Amino acid sequence: MFNATSLSGSKPEQYAQLLERAEALLAGEGDRIANAANLSSLIYHTLPELNWVGFYFFDGSELVVGPFQGLPACVRISLDHGVCGVAARTRQTQRVDDVHAFPGHIACDSASNSELVIPLLDTNGALLGVFDLDSPRLARFDVDDQAGLEALAATFIHSLLPERAGFSEARPSQARSSQTGASQVGSSQTASSPAAPISS
Ligand code: SME
Repeated sequence: MFNATSLSGSKPEQYAQLLERAEALLAGEGDRIANAANLSSLIYHTLPELNWVGFYFFDGSELVVGPFQGLPACVRISLDHGVCGVAARTRQTQRVDDVHAFPGHIACDSASNSELVIPLLDTNGALLGVFDLDSPRLARFDVDDQAGLEALAATFIHSLLPERAGFSEARPSQARSSQTGASQVGSSQTASSPAAPISS
Protein backbone atom coordinates (compact mmCIF):
# COMPACT_ATOMS: atom_id res chain seq x y z
CA MET A 1 0.00 0.00 0.00
CA PHE A 2 1.31 3.43 -0.91
CA ASN A 3 1.97 5.64 2.09
CA ALA A 4 2.45 9.32 1.28
CA THR A 5 4.78 11.03 3.71
CA SER A 6 5.74 14.66 3.55
CA LEU A 7 8.99 15.88 2.08
CA SER A 8 11.52 17.80 4.15
CA GLY A 9 14.46 20.18 3.77
CA SER A 10 15.20 22.65 1.01
CA LYS A 11 13.33 22.42 -2.25
CA PRO A 12 16.19 20.59 -4.05
CA GLU A 13 16.38 18.18 -1.09
CA GLN A 14 12.64 17.61 -1.30
CA TYR A 15 12.90 16.87 -5.01
CA ALA A 16 15.76 14.45 -4.31
CA GLN A 17 13.47 12.59 -1.90
CA LEU A 18 10.65 12.60 -4.41
CA LEU A 19 13.01 11.29 -7.11
CA GLU A 20 13.99 8.38 -4.87
CA ARG A 21 10.33 7.54 -4.35
CA ALA A 22 9.68 7.72 -8.07
CA GLU A 23 12.62 5.46 -8.87
CA ALA A 24 11.39 2.93 -6.32
CA LEU A 25 7.87 3.14 -7.74
CA LEU A 26 9.01 2.55 -11.33
CA ALA A 27 11.74 0.01 -10.55
CA GLY A 28 11.41 -3.24 -12.46
CA GLU A 29 8.52 -2.03 -14.61
CA GLY A 30 8.88 -0.87 -18.19
CA ASP A 31 5.26 -0.42 -19.20
CA ARG A 32 4.70 3.15 -20.38
CA ILE A 33 1.08 3.40 -19.27
CA ALA A 34 1.70 1.86 -15.85
CA ASN A 35 4.67 4.09 -15.10
CA ALA A 36 3.00 7.24 -16.41
CA ALA A 37 -0.06 6.50 -14.27
CA ASN A 38 1.89 5.85 -11.10
CA LEU A 39 4.25 8.78 -11.57
CA SER A 40 1.34 11.15 -12.18
CA SER A 41 -0.34 9.94 -9.01
CA LEU A 42 2.84 10.13 -6.92
CA ILE A 43 3.54 13.71 -7.94
CA TYR A 44 -0.07 14.88 -7.76
CA HIS A 45 -0.47 13.54 -4.24
CA THR A 46 2.95 14.70 -2.99
CA LEU A 47 3.42 18.23 -4.32
CA PRO A 48 1.04 21.00 -3.25
CA GLU A 49 -0.93 23.41 -5.41
CA LEU A 50 -1.36 21.25 -8.47
CA ASN A 51 -4.66 20.70 -10.23
CA TRP A 52 -3.43 18.57 -13.14
CA VAL A 53 -0.44 16.27 -13.59
CA GLY A 54 -0.13 13.94 -16.53
CA PHE A 55 1.16 12.82 -19.87
CA TYR A 56 0.41 13.44 -23.50
CA PHE A 57 1.94 10.93 -25.90
CA PHE A 58 2.91 11.70 -29.50
CA ASP A 59 1.14 9.37 -31.94
CA GLY A 60 3.19 10.45 -34.95
CA SER A 61 1.07 13.44 -35.81
CA GLU A 62 -0.33 14.94 -32.61
CA LEU A 63 -0.34 14.65 -28.83
CA VAL A 64 -2.91 12.30 -27.29
CA VAL A 65 -3.77 12.40 -23.61
CA GLY A 66 -2.32 9.62 -21.49
CA PRO A 67 -2.46 8.79 -17.79
CA PHE A 68 -3.10 11.78 -15.55
CA GLN A 69 -4.52 13.05 -12.27
CA GLY A 70 -7.00 15.91 -12.33
CA LEU A 71 -10.12 16.86 -14.24
CA PRO A 72 -10.82 15.33 -17.66
CA ALA A 73 -8.68 17.03 -20.29
CA CYS A 74 -8.70 17.69 -24.01
CA VAL A 75 -7.82 14.46 -25.80
CA ARG A 76 -5.74 15.63 -28.76
CA ILE A 77 -3.40 18.59 -29.07
CA SER A 78 -1.76 19.52 -32.34
CA LEU A 79 1.90 20.53 -32.23
CA ASP A 80 0.73 23.95 -33.40
CA HIS A 81 -1.39 24.58 -30.33
CA GLY A 82 -1.14 25.14 -26.64
CA VAL A 83 1.72 25.12 -24.21
CA CYS A 84 2.03 21.38 -24.81
CA GLY A 85 2.33 21.85 -28.56
CA VAL A 86 5.07 24.46 -28.16
CA ALA A 87 7.02 22.22 -25.76
CA ALA A 88 6.74 19.29 -28.15
CA ARG A 89 7.60 21.30 -31.25
CA THR A 90 10.52 23.24 -29.78
CA ARG A 91 11.68 20.42 -27.49
CA GLN A 92 12.14 22.95 -24.77
CA THR A 93 10.52 22.99 -21.37
CA GLN A 94 7.81 25.62 -21.17
CA ARG A 95 7.48 27.24 -17.75
CA VAL A 96 4.57 29.61 -17.88
CA ASP A 97 3.89 31.90 -14.94
CA ASP A 98 0.51 33.05 -16.28
CA VAL A 99 -1.20 30.81 -18.80
CA HIS A 100 -3.69 33.55 -19.64
CA ALA A 101 -0.83 35.57 -21.11
CA PHE A 102 0.43 32.65 -23.22
CA PRO A 103 -0.77 32.91 -26.82
CA GLY A 104 -2.68 29.78 -27.79
CA HIS A 105 -2.93 28.32 -24.30
CA ILE A 106 -5.57 25.58 -24.18
CA ALA A 107 -7.72 25.87 -21.07
CA CYS A 108 -8.71 22.34 -20.06
CA ASP A 109 -9.39 23.34 -16.47
CA SER A 110 -10.45 26.93 -15.74
CA ALA A 111 -8.65 26.66 -12.39
CA SER A 112 -5.24 26.54 -14.07
CA ASN A 113 -3.16 29.71 -13.83
CA SER A 114 0.42 28.51 -14.32
CA GLU A 115 1.87 25.53 -16.14
CA LEU A 116 5.05 23.54 -16.69
CA VAL A 117 5.40 21.31 -19.76
CA ILE A 118 8.46 19.12 -20.24
CA PRO A 119 9.11 17.47 -23.62
CA LEU A 120 9.90 13.74 -23.50
CA LEU A 121 12.48 12.47 -25.97
CA ASP A 122 13.76 8.94 -26.37
CA THR A 123 17.45 8.11 -26.44
CA ASN A 124 17.50 8.74 -30.20
CA GLY A 125 15.97 12.15 -29.74
CA ALA A 126 12.56 11.13 -31.06
CA LEU A 127 9.52 12.81 -29.51
CA LEU A 128 7.64 10.53 -27.08
CA GLY A 129 5.28 13.18 -25.76
CA VAL A 130 5.15 15.73 -22.97
CA PHE A 131 4.80 15.75 -19.20
CA ASP A 132 2.38 18.48 -18.15
CA LEU A 133 1.67 20.06 -14.76
CA ASP A 134 -0.90 22.74 -14.03
CA SER A 135 -1.39 24.87 -10.94
CA PRO A 136 -4.14 27.18 -9.75
CA ARG A 137 -1.43 29.52 -8.40
CA LEU A 138 0.25 32.05 -10.67
CA ALA A 139 4.01 31.41 -11.00
CA ARG A 140 3.73 28.14 -9.09
CA PHE A 141 6.83 26.68 -10.78
CA ASP A 142 10.31 28.13 -10.28
CA VAL A 143 13.72 26.99 -11.53
CA ASP A 144 14.04 24.42 -8.73
CA ASP A 145 10.64 22.95 -9.60
CA GLN A 146 11.67 22.80 -13.24
CA ALA A 147 14.96 21.04 -12.43
CA GLY A 148 13.28 18.60 -10.05
CA LEU A 149 10.45 17.78 -12.42
CA GLU A 150 12.81 17.41 -15.38
CA ALA A 151 14.77 14.87 -13.34
CA LEU A 152 11.51 13.03 -12.62
CA ALA A 153 10.63 13.07 -16.31
CA ALA A 154 14.10 11.69 -17.13
CA THR A 155 13.51 8.87 -14.66
CA PHE A 156 10.25 8.06 -16.42
CA ILE A 157 12.02 7.84 -19.79
CA HIS A 158 14.79 5.77 -18.23
CA SER A 159 12.22 3.31 -16.88
CA LEU A 160 11.09 2.56 -20.44
CA LEU A 161 14.51 1.39 -21.60
CA PRO A 162 14.57 -2.42 -21.94
CA GLU A 163 17.91 -2.77 -20.18
CA ARG A 164 16.50 -0.84 -17.21
CA ALA A 165 13.87 -3.44 -16.35
CA GLY A 166 15.53 -3.98 -12.96
CA PHE A 167 17.11 -0.60 -12.48
CA SER A 168 16.55 -0.35 -8.73
CA GLU A 169 20.05 -1.70 -8.05
CA ALA A 170 21.63 0.98 -10.21
CA ARG A 171 19.32 3.93 -9.91
CA PRO A 172 20.61 7.23 -11.21
CA SER A 173 21.32 10.02 -8.80
CA GLN A 174 19.44 13.27 -9.24
CA ALA A 175 22.60 14.87 -10.59
CA ARG A 176 22.97 12.12 -13.15
CA SER A 177 19.34 12.37 -14.10
CA SER A 178 19.71 16.08 -14.59
CA GLN A 179 22.67 15.55 -16.86
CA THR A 180 21.06 12.84 -18.91
CA GLY A 181 17.83 14.77 -18.80
CA ALA A 182 19.34 17.33 -21.11
CA SER A 183 19.01 14.89 -23.95
CA GLN A 184 16.08 12.90 -22.64
CA VAL A 185 13.62 15.61 -21.77
CA GLY A 186 14.64 18.25 -24.23
CA SER A 187 16.47 21.41 -23.38
CA SER A 188 15.38 24.01 -20.94
CA GLN A 189 15.00 27.60 -21.92
CA THR A 190 12.37 29.45 -20.03
CA ALA A 191 11.62 32.73 -18.43
CA SER A 192 12.38 32.92 -14.76
CA SER A 193 9.70 33.12 -12.13
CA PRO A 194 9.70 33.95 -8.41
CA ALA A 195 10.92 31.25 -6.07
CA ALA A 196 8.29 29.28 -4.23
CA PRO A 197 8.60 26.46 -1.71
CA ILE A 198 7.49 22.95 -2.57
CA SER A 199 5.43 22.84 0.55
CA SER A 200 4.11 25.69 2.57
N1 SME B 1 -2.94 23.74 -21.08
C1 SME B 1 -2.41 22.79 -22.01
C2 SME B 1 -3.45 21.76 -22.41
C3 SME B 1 -3.42 20.54 -21.58
S1 SME B 1 -4.12 20.76 -20.07
O1 SME B 1 -3.45 21.78 -19.31
C4 SME B 1 -4.23 19.33 -19.27
C5 SME B 1 -1.90 23.51 -23.25
O2 SME B 1 -2.11 24.70 -23.40
O3 SME B 1 -1.29 22.85 -24.09
